[in-house]
Formats: sequence, C-alpha cells, structure tokens
Amino acid sequence: MDDLRSKYIDLIAQAADEAALEDLRVQAVGKKGEISLAMRELGRMTPEERQEAGPRLNALKSEITSALAAKKQALTDAALDDRLKAEWLDVTLPARPSNHGTIHPVSQVTEEVSAIFADMGFSVAEGPQIESDWYNFDALNIPGHHPARAEMDTFYMQRKQGDNRPPHVLRTHTSPVQIRSMMDHGAPLRVICPGRVYRADYDQTHTPMFHQVEGLAIDTDISMANLKWCLEEFCRAFFEVDGVELRFRASHFPFTEPSAEVDIRCSWAGGTLKIGEGDDWLEILGSGMVHPKVLEAGGIDPSQWQGFAFGMGIDRIAMLKYGIPDLRAFFDSDLRWLRHYGFGALDRPDLVGGLSR
Ligand code: PHE
Repeated sequence: MDDLRSKYIDLIAQAADEAALEDLRVQAVGKKGEISLAMRELGRMTPEERQEAGPRLNALKSEITSALAAKKQALTDAALDDRLKAEWLDVTLPARPSNHGTIHPVSQVTEEVSAIFADMGFSVAEGPQIESDWYNFDALNIPGHHPARAEMDTFYMQRKQGDNRPPHVLRTHTSPVQIRSMMDHGAPLRVICPGRVYRADYDQTHTPMFHQVEGLAIDTDISMANLKWCLEEFCRAFFEVDGVELRFRASHFPFTEPSAEVDIRCSWAGGTLKIGEGDDWLEILGSGMVHPKVLEAGGIDPSQWQGFAFGMGIDRIAMLKYGIPDLRAFFDSDLRWLRHYGFGALDRPDLVGGLSR
C-alpha cells in the first residue's frame, strides 16, 4: 500500500497536463484501477485482516483523489497564468499612427451643421427616437385622420395587449423636438435638433433610418426674410462656395403656414455634381413659419410670438457636399467605404479652422 501511495503521488506531481492526469485517475481509482482492485481483494481477507486493511485503503483512495483534484487546480491556474503572460497588453502605449478609425460622414456633417448654426446663436437640442403619437403628430397639427400620417410610412411600436392608447412611433421627423424645446425653454428660442428619424422606405436615396436636423427660431418679429437669410448663410458656409443659389418653392406642411421647400442650384455636367452652378435644382429641406396651433401646443402664446422652422436631410446634404452617390452605403459598415469617405478623428470642424480639412 505504501508503494502504491508513493507511486501515484509521484506520478500526479509529474503530470504535465489534464489529459495525463485523467489517465492517472483511471489507472488508480477508476473502476478497474489499482486501488479499486485492491479494495475488491478485501472480500477474500479474514475479518481481522479486513479490519486493518479496509480503513487504510479508504484513506489511500481519498488521499489520491484529493491529490488529483489539487493538481488539476494547479494546472488550470498555470494555464491561466500562461495566457495572461501571452495575451498581455500595454494599454499605456501610444495609438498606432496609421489612421484605422475614421469619423463617419454623418457625424462629420452633423458637427459642421452645429458649428455653423452655433455661430448664428442656435443651441443644440435632442429628443427621443421613440416618440409618442402626440409629439410626432398631434402637437404638430397633424390630427388622427390626416393623410400625412399615412404618407410618412410610419413605424409603429407594439402595444401591450389590452392597451387601447395610440401606439408610440419611431419618430418620422425631428419636428417633435420643436415641441419639446418650446415646452422646456419657452420663447424667445433658437435651437437646432439633429438626430435619427425613421420611415419605411428603401432605395438609392432612401433608407428606413436616416438623419435630419430641425431648426427653430422664435421671437416677436421673426419673418420669412430671416429664414431665407439664415438658410442662405448656412449653405454658403456649409458648401464652401460663395455663389450658392437657393430657390424657395411654395409647399404645404401642416405645422407651418406659409410653407416652402428649398432647392439648391447645381450642375450634373460630366456626371459629377457641382453646387452653385448649372441648371438643375435639388431639394434639400422643408420650411415655413411655425403654425399658431403648433406654438400653442408648445405652450407659447401665438398672439405674442412667431417664428420659422425648417427640417433638412443630413444624409442628403452629406451626399451633395462630399459626392457620395448611394445613401444605402452610409449604413453598410463597410470599412473600405469608411476609409474612403471618413474623416480624421482629430479634425473637429469649426468656422475658424475650416469645416472639412
Ligand atoms: N418635418 C418635415 C419633414 O420631415 C420638414 C419640415 C420641418 C418642414 C420644419 C417644415 C418645417 O418632411
């Protein structure tokens, strides 16, 4: 028994890995292992012999079993130590100089738009992407039966069974942030609200999720003339061309009166798009004077205050400025596309240093 003991204690100590250890376990205490066989011999002993050998064999079996367990733990710990050494990483090393990450054109353009409007005294506001039916529609003078609800290809959230309230929606435009800003800050007010919006639509110029920036200016004497100046000033700064020409086309939105859609003069000559020349026009935004009912919904007295609002497609103006042909590629997460169209991470756009260095 002493020989068995020292043999297995030695072998266990020398085992190099878990497989070797498992072989030893089978050899020693497995069904047909040496110790198990020795235990079977007990039956053939005299009662006196058995009384002496039985407890010693049991003690030996439990000693070997715990030696196996201890060695197994030691091997696991050693394996972990090896991994920790091999996969060691110095997080204090400087970043690699090769530019692996880039800023997405949508983020870049959002920063550019914010920098330009900040310079004109607008602050930036955000609202939730899951919006109540009231903020997305009713408060904007789009009542339940209004065709605009159907036209917008709205995504509705699922309702709990038995809940008969109108379902929440994925906001179809950034205009609900107009209402939230009015309620939060009152008048006078100057905000832009960039963010994601959603409509069930998909082709070369439409994706089910896209980006808008809302603009809202409220004061006692704000007019369409101020709207026109702001947008022209914005386009000059954003497209970085002096000769930008805008066309205001009469239109209709339930939340503005009067309403105008704005096109920008451009040329497609030679298959490339140029802003500020040529005979083509491209629509970039919707706008108008805020409807009195909308001011009321936002808690602002329409007999005292008035203002303009606009909603512009961020992805649309990014495509125009940076010559990106297909909107769907914006959201494909293709690294080659991002390397080609992305921007340096440290080049923050501002009006002094330049918008798109
Ligand atoms: N919310 C409108 C849209 O998504 C755009 C808009 C905003 C029009 C503000 C007028 C005023 O089409």
